[in-house]
This record gives sequence, structure tokens and C-alpha cells, in this order.
Amino acid sequence: MASLEELVKKNSDLDDNLISYFQDLTRSWGLLADLSFSDLLLYLPVGEGFLDFVLLAHIRPTTATTLYRADLVGQKFEAKSRPLVSEAFDSAQISFGKVSMGGNREISVMAIPVIWEGETVAVLVSEKTFIGEPPRSEMERTYLSIFNRFAEMFERGEFPYGEDDRFRHRMPRLGDGLLLVNTEGQIEFASPNAVTLLHRLGWHRPVVGSRFEETGLSSKILSRAFRNKGSVTDELERKDKTCVVSHCFPLLNSGKATGAAVLVRDVTELRRRDRQLISKDATIREIHHRVKNNLQTISSLLRIQGRRLDSDEAQMALNESVRRIGAIAVVHETLAVSKEGEVTFGEIMRPLVELVKEGLGSPVKPIDIEVSGDTGLLPSEVTTTLAVVVTELLQNALDHGFKLVTQEKIDDSRVDVLLSKDQEAVMVEVSDNGVGLPEDFDIEKDGGLGLTIVKTFIQQELEGSLNVVSHPETKGARFQIRLPSDKLFTEDEYEGKGVE
Ligand SMILES: Nc1ncnc2c1ncn2[C@@H]1O[C@H](COP(=O)(O)OP(=O)(O)OP(=O)(O)O)[C@@H](O)[C@H]1O
Ligand SMILES: [Mg+2]
Repeated sequence: MASLEELVKKNSDLDDNLISYFQDLTRSWGLLADLSFSDLLLYLPVGEGFLDFVLLAHIRPTTATTLYRADLVGQKFEAKSRPLVSEAFDSAQISFGKVSMGGNREISVMAIPVIWEGETVAVLVSEKTFIGEPPRSEMERTYLSIFNRFAEMFERGEFPYGEDDRFRHRMPRLGDGLLLVNTEGQIEFASPNAVTLLHRLGWHRPVVGSRFEETGLSSKILSRAFRNKGSVTDELERKDKTCVVSHCFPLLNSGKATGAAVLVRDVTELRRRDRQLISKDATIREIHHRVKNNLQTISSLLRIQGRRLDSDEAQMALNESVRRIGAIAVVHETLAVSKEGEVTFGEIMRPLVELVKEGLGSPVKPIDIEVSGDTGLLPSEVTTTLAVVVTELLQNALDHGFKLVTQEKIDDSRVDVLLSKDQEAVMVEVSDNGVGLPEDFDIEKDGGLGLTIVKTFIQQELEGSLNVVSHPETKGARFQIRLPSDKLFTEDEYEGKGVE
């Protein structure tokens, strides 16, 4: 189905301001359909001499049965076939009438001109089954009289309002709860659901006759709505976590406020769910914390076992495993203290570097490890994998890059970690100015366990690529990792945080 905007553009050359005016109207008209117990239809006159009307929008009441089961939006009608609509459009006044639907069925029609900047631009039509003059309850009479006040505001060009508070949630409907308030702030009418809601707020005296602010609702919205001549929204949260949203629609007559219709809605349950979502972040942090603790336990078990082994080789193997587990633990620890359970890789690097330096033992080799740039936020499983990879490369630089250098060279020995990202990829480069890789080193064949882990994680887990450069002149080794963003992020993550 075409949107209101598409329909207006397809059938006329009206400008965007007018389209937003229609959109404002249809945003709040659910209330009007409910108050009038009728279907509401918005007709736009189109063509040469406005001989046709296009149905721009339609809303059904929640307080009565609809006349239209089918969806007629977008259809064009000859003006001749809609005489009351034409009359309201031509005269800029409300026109009433009865229309026969065949058999002995009649519908009552009220056609209301929609005025914008002093001109009739569309016609709003209220249609419902005509059932004579039935005895009406006080509630029905009140709803209809409020609707009539809105209808007259249309006629005078006072509704939709020029200025509106935008709504965070769906527009409230009559069933949520309605209060009719006079200009003195006294409640003249309250729908049953509004009364229930005020009971929840602790107001047990008769609602009709009470002052609006006594009931626990904020009176500010009334004065603001009267002053701005536009709708005002307010949300109230009480100590007991009861949350109420109020939408105040001032009723105007030639620029003067004559009262207000206030829709009230209990959103306690909605807000409780919002809070649950927030506490989900806290849960994620708690899980990272526990994973870190578990990894530390595993490390201790391996260390204890290592101490009981006689073989040096076996001991070393266990110690290396302890170090690798340590890198993963660092990631979880950093995530556990992070604000949203998310951190950039740059933030992980600092504790990782500390970890690798700790492993060096005595500071005989004062080697600088410099980290620059950042990758932005990465999914946490990517962060863990990458942390293991980078630790491995740092460890290699320290183990192999500098072990042969003479004491004099030690001063400017350094390892650089360069983090960056662009539209397509995240890049990580680890380089050192040590002895460089052995001549005719082939990463595919010559790697030990460390580089095998690096290759497997980069190429298979992260679907990225690894490039190794060894400079004969500078003698350093340089490992360049490139991870394509579309492999790292799901589509929304990619939109949201992967790339700025
Ligand atoms: N930064 C570097 N500078 C010089 N040589 C390096 C560097 N990184 C790796 N190498 C060479 O590549 C070899 C393979 O490294 P790899 O990490 O796979 O195994 P390893 O470090 O020997 O053992 P481990 O399994 O404990 O990591 C090393 O033995 C070393 O010769
Ligand atoms: Mg190694």
C-alpha cells in the first residue's frame, strides 16, 4: 500500500509542509475516530477543477464497528459521488447528512474541511451507521461533544496544532484513559480506565470535580498546552515504579483555550521491560567476569600440573598454554569492567601489553611496546581471537627478535602495534626492529605452534589475511593482519559501530 506521502505526490503537486501537516493529522486522529465512534477518512481533492477525491488515509474506531472491511486507501472517487465531501470542501464548513447504503441501511456522514494557512486543503469525513436517535449514555454524549469541539477546531484551522510534542510510543487511544479538564484545571469527565489509573496513582476520591494536579498527574502539561496551543506529552515515574504517560490536547476556540482532553496511559509494564533490557548489559558484564575467573582457575590447574612434571619440554608447553589462556582472560576482564559490555581493541591492548611484559620476567631487556590507533568496537568473540593472535606476535617479537642483539642496541629496541580501520576492513600490524625473520623463512612451512595459531585464527576463524614482511635493511619483522568488516560484523553492527 502506498504511503500518505506517496499518494499526495502521485496525485498532486502539494509541497512537503502540507504533507507533514497531513501526517500530523493522521498521527493523532485515532483519538478522534474513537471519540466519534466512526470511521475517519481523509480525502484530497485532485485534478482539474477538483472533480475527483483521492482517499489518502483511513482509520477505524476502537469504540465501534467499522463500516469498511476492505481497504480503500489510494482509490479515486468522483466528486459527484461524494456530495457532502464536495460541499464541505467548497464551503469550508462542516456538512452533515445521511447516505443510503441500499436496503434500509443508512450511514450518517460528517464532512469536515481541513484548513491550512486559511485555505481548505482536504476533507476529513466521519462515517458511521445511522441508528436514529438512540438514548445515549453520559459517556457517549461526552465523547461526541469532545469530538465536535475538535471538528470545529478543524473548521477554524486550529487543528492539527502548529506545534506538537513528538511521541515516543504509539499514539494513545481512547481506551487507555481520557480526562476532560476545564481551563481552571478541574476534571469534568473521566473515562473508566482513567479512573482505574488514578486509583493506581493513589487517588481514591471522586475524580470528577477534583483538580488535575491533586490526582498525582503533573499540572505543568496543562499550562504548557494552554500556552503553546499545541499538544504536550509528559511522563511520570513514581517511587513505586508506576509510570504514566499523559498526552494533553488543548481544546481551542478562536485562539483561546477552552479546556483540554488528556489521554493517560499506564506504561509501567513497558518501562519495566526497558529496565530489564538495561540490566541485560549488567548481566553480560557479570558473565565476562565469571568467564575470566574460570579461566584463571584453569590456569592455576595447569600451573600446578606443570610443577609436577619432570620434562622441561612438557613444562614449557604448559606454561605457554597458561600464557595463551591469560590473553583470553585479559579480554574478559576488560569487558567485565567496561561500561556497556563493549570495548575497542585499543582498550584491550594496554592490559595485553602488560601481560606480555610481565612474562618477560627481569627487565634485562627494556623493550618498548607502543600501541597506536584503534579498531573501534569489535564483537567480543572477535576481540578474544584477535587478542590471542596479537599476544602470540608480541611474544615472538620479544622471544626471537631481540634475543641476539647486543647490549648497546637494546635501548632503541621496540615493538609497534598499529591499529586502524577503514570502510572495508580492520587492520592490525605488529612490527619490531629486531633481527628479522630467518632468511628464506616461509610462513606456510616454517611456523611453530605460535604462528600456526596466528594463521588459523586469522584465516579460518576471522576470514582475514596475514602478510609477513621482513626487511633486510632494518632487520625487523612485520606482521600485517587485515580483517574484512563484512566478515566481522552482522549488517546492523556494521551500520552502527563497525565504521564511523
Ligand atoms: N618477530 C620475529 N622476529 C624474528 N623471528 C621470528 C619472529 N617471529 C617469528 N619468528 C621466527 O618464526 C619461528 C616460528 O614462530 P612460532 O611463534 O610459530 O614458534 P615459536 O615462537 O618458535 O614457538 P611457540 O610455539 O612457542 O610460539 C620462530 O622460531 C622464529 O624463528
Ligand atoms: Mg612463538
